[in-house]
Amino acid sequence: MYIVGGSASKTIAEDLAKILNQPLANVTIKRFPDDELYIRILDKIAGEEVIIVQTTYPDQNIIELLLLQDAVREAKAKSITVVAPYFGYGRQDKKFQEGEAISARAIAKLISTNAERFITVDPHKDHVLNFFTSPAQSCSALTEIAAYIKTKHIDVVLAPDKGAAERAKNVAKIVGCRYDHLDKTRIDGETVTIQSKNLDVEKKNVAIIDDIISTGGTMAQSVKELKKQGANKIILACTHGLFVGTAKEKISSAGCTELVSTDTIASEFSNVHVASSIADVIMKSKK
Ligand code: R5P
Repeated sequence: MYIVGGSASKTIAEDLAKILNQPLANVTIKRFPDDELYIRILDKIAGEEVIIVQTTYPDQNIIELLLLQDAVREAKAKSITVVAPYFGYGRQDKKFQEGEAISARAIAKLISTNAERFITVDPHKDHVLNFFTSPAQSCSALTEIAAYIKTKHIDVVLAPDKGAAERAKNVAKIVGCRYDHLDKTRIDGETVTIQSKNLDVEKKNVAIIDDIISTGGTMAQSVKELKKQGANKIILACTHGLFVGTAKEKISSAGCTELVSTDTIASEFSNVHVASSIADVIMKSKK
């Protein structure tokens, strides 16, 4: 077996190689003068099972993944497993309006043309796995996030909306505290409102759990509501920290105590690591 790490997921690939005790392939990834990408696998991987690790966000990392898959196939690997720690385009998982692309399906089909298996972490909606034409599985970072939060003396775990309450429930079970949810309405891609609702958080330490932080609007508005209700510590946690535009400023000016994400998208907040959850999925399939 060989692990191939794309530029978006080098650390996870290294962690996986260590956990699975398998070599990390040497790969040349560089750009031509016109900025097109060049990929070359330097190890002899013919006949080997190869795991390519690459988050499919932002767009250039999708191209890199497709070229890595092609190079691995050309080098006559026995099989290709694609691990996309964050599956970009996963949120456009259906036609919300007539005439739209189903982007998650389009990207899934592309990846599937050159992979025997696909693995991702906490997809926005599980049904995106059905878009892959090769077997697709997901694992969850919630256990790792819960273990991190448990050290912070949290009294209540909240989801930003009712639809995500199950996530808060699962984390709260591990932390050993109660859970609840806020009531969010999305106005547009950048704007959300949080409805007033008594959450019984006065002087309490609260953690809000979400799958993605994108513009930071959801978390910033949630923090404002919790402060209004007199919460003490407010920890914000997510699996995928995109932090687009002014997200970090928005969140920190709202006044949270701590922001944490996993390393599916590497950032200064990636203090929770997902490689062991991914390794579990890979090892289970070997038994
Ligand atoms: C929405 O359904 C997701 O679970 C997140 O709540 C959302 O993607 C967060 O986006 P933003 O940070 O832009 O509010």
